[in-house]
Amino acid sequence: MSQNKDNICLLAIESSCDDTGAAVIINGKMHSNVVATQHIHQKYGGVVPELASREHLQNIIPVVDEALKLANITLQDLSAVAYAQGPGLMGSLMVGSSYARALSSALNVPSIGVDHLKAHVMAHFIDDPKPQFPFICLLVSGGHTQIILVKAYDNMEVLGKTHDDAAGEAFDKTAKMMGLPYPGGPLIDKYAQLGNPEAFTFSYAKMPGFDYSFSGFKTAVLYFLKSNIEKEPNFLALEMNNICASVQRHIVTSLLKNLKKAVQATGVNQVALAGGVSANSELRSAFTNMGLQNQWETFIPAFEYCTDNAAMIAVAAHFAFLSNNFTQLDEVPYARHSF
Ligand code: KG4
Ligand code: ZN
Repeated sequence: MSQNKDNICLLAIESSCDDTGAAVIINGKMHSNVVATQHIHQKYGGVVPELASREHLQNIIPVVDEALKLANITLQDLSAVAYAQGPGLMGSLMVGSSYARALSSALNVPSIGVDHLKAHVMAHFIDDPKPQFPFICLLVSGGHTQIILVKAYDNMEVLGKTHDDAAGEAFDKTAKMMGLPYPGGPLIDKYAQLGNPEAFTFSYAKMPGFDYSFSGFKTAVLYFLKSNIEKEPNFLALEMNNICASVQRHIVTSLLKNLKKAVQATGVNQVALAGGVSANSELRSAFTNMGLQNQWETFIPAFEYCTDNAAMIAVAAHFAFLSNNFTQLDEVPYARHSF
């Protein structure tokens, strides 16, 4: 199916985890980007899949209405409807993908299923400056940690990945051990600003190639906290800032060590960060400094495009639309990684 490429107006829906997002992009330019964050999970210390699906059901129509209104368009203006197809929570993906496919069918326009991880990478094409292909992207989110060689919008090669926990999980799970609410990553970032990152040290995992592992670190933090709390019951309260700074330093140093090796091995010196953890202030500054020291051209998404959002789905869909890369209505979402 070939479509008119002169006026491409896309609605995109993101519902892979616990945020319901809708965005409108017209000829590659963002016109609206709405996110409804689900707060219900905080009291459970993590995302409860069944509750996430129900919240998506409640949010999706008002969020889409708001996105259309802000962009000053109606459903009849749409050239296609895009959605996050996976990976993610199956129930959550089902809500967004069913809604998007039903809408595209009713409007008689194509639907475009977008890979959530590729969309995080493509967030760099929402605003200027944009990287050129090929570039290297460190994708760090709540569910994934990967070093990706990005050859084209639809051609990405994973050079290194975590064997267990993702960087976001390393933040969130250690935060939970310290009694902090979910998601703990932003709170560790906040307390770390007042702490000494060299107060405590944890040994680094030795992994093959450019791969990562954070499960040993997580266990080390657990035993470190346990033994210190046994000696001093107020240890957490007394040392919270220093522990957060040391945990953050460990995760950031681990991430950047392998990234540097991958950049050196490939010789590709345009380097980008993506995913929720790229909102971390130490990661952003250490990455920028590493870029300056090594003559890399570095790219960091704006804060609103780091964590889950529909704008990144929309921009990835725009590239797909230009290549007539549409998705059949009977294609189902996938929970696990696809590339
Ligand atoms: O990409 P994302 O919004 O969702 C997934 O696709 O997983 O990433 C969410 C993750 C969570 O683990 C959260 O704690 C982490 O990003 N995060 C941060 C910060 N902001 C979000 N981690 C550390 N520092 C931050 N400032
Ligand atoms: Zn994500």
